[in-house]
Amino acid sequence: MTPDLMEEGARRREAYAKRQAERATESGGRSAAYGRIARIGEPDFTQGVALYLDDITVSFDGFKALNALSLTVNVGELRCIIGPNGAGKTTMMDCITGKTRPDAGKLFFGSTIDLLRLTEPEIAQIGIGRKFQKPTVYEELSVFQNLELALAADRRARASLFSRLTGPQLDRIGEVLALIHLSADAQRTAGLLSHGQKQWLEIGMLLMQDPKLLLLDEPVAGMTDEETERTAELFLSLEGKHSLVVVEHDMKFVEQLTEGRKKVTVLHEGSVLAEGRLADVQANDKVVEVYLGR
Ligand SMILES: Nc1ncnc2c1ncn2[C@@H]1O[C@H](COP(=O)(O)OP(=O)(O)OP(=O)(O)O)[C@@H](O)[C@H]1O
Ligand SMILES: [Mg+2]
Repeated sequence: MTPDLMEEGARRREAYAKRQAERATESGGRSAAYGRIARIGEPDFTQGVALYLDDITVSFDGFKALNALSLTVNVGELRCIIGPNGAGKTTMMDCITGKTRPDAGKLFFGSTIDLLRLTEPEIAQIGIGRKFQKPTVYEELSVFQNLELALAADRRARASLFSRLTGPQLDRIGEVLALIHLSADAQRTAGLLSHGQKQWLEIGMLLMQDPKLLLLDEPVAGMTDEETERTAELFLSLEGKHSLVVVEHDMKFVEQLTEGRKKVTVLHEGSVLAEGRLADVQANDKVVEVYLGR
């Protein structure tokens, strides 16, 4: 390896860490987070609960974006959240990831970790991964290199671009490539991928850190029908190993994810309007009125 390449690797590693930190926080630093993670400890999932929101309220200048919202997601569950524009779906994710602080309520990860006491980078570190709508992959790097960089944010495996990967790290990249249907494109420049493939790559980058809980906000927006279908397959394959919270307006996609039996949650005006099987909530008069009947 030439010194130039090593320098380039170090530069990219630094840029990646900086961007992660910028995305993860407005206050508090990433390095400070590392020190505290050990004290926070591992989340306890023995009660079967992955995420617990109780009476969460968020006000913006007196307007309640979330209004006494209560919600429980079980370990390994795939929960779809639907609801009209402005219902508070994104605000809910902002609270879970620590981007927005609620005025009141309880918010737990597992049965012991009080998310309201943690900073945004700490929340990312304890195993909550979030996918934003716009894919933000490194366009000029290969698919493989993007996944390799994502390892750098892993507290257990400080790999870095152009450093030697260990066997388990290589295996994990291989596994994730297969999951996101990009094995054949590993050496392709990420910038050349389709919009849908870039979304998968970003999900793959999240998976490199093996999050316990994945938050996905409108993951299939802008995808073709075929890409949407494959994304549903991907999420279904993650169910069980991870807990997933998926916010989506695309009902066909939600239908595929729920497989006719899983619970969906309908949000409206910052609280839960209805919860149950998709077919049941779709037949619910209140839901039809505020959302589906538009
Ligand atoms: N930072 C903010 N300041 C003021 N109001 C906000 C802020 N963030 C969200 N809101 C308001 O809170 C409400 C809920 O917004 P949110 O983005 O959570 O809705 P959503 O359910 O994600 O909608 P969509 O389906 O359109 O994405 C909206 O009325 C929005 O305008
Ligand atoms: Mg939203």
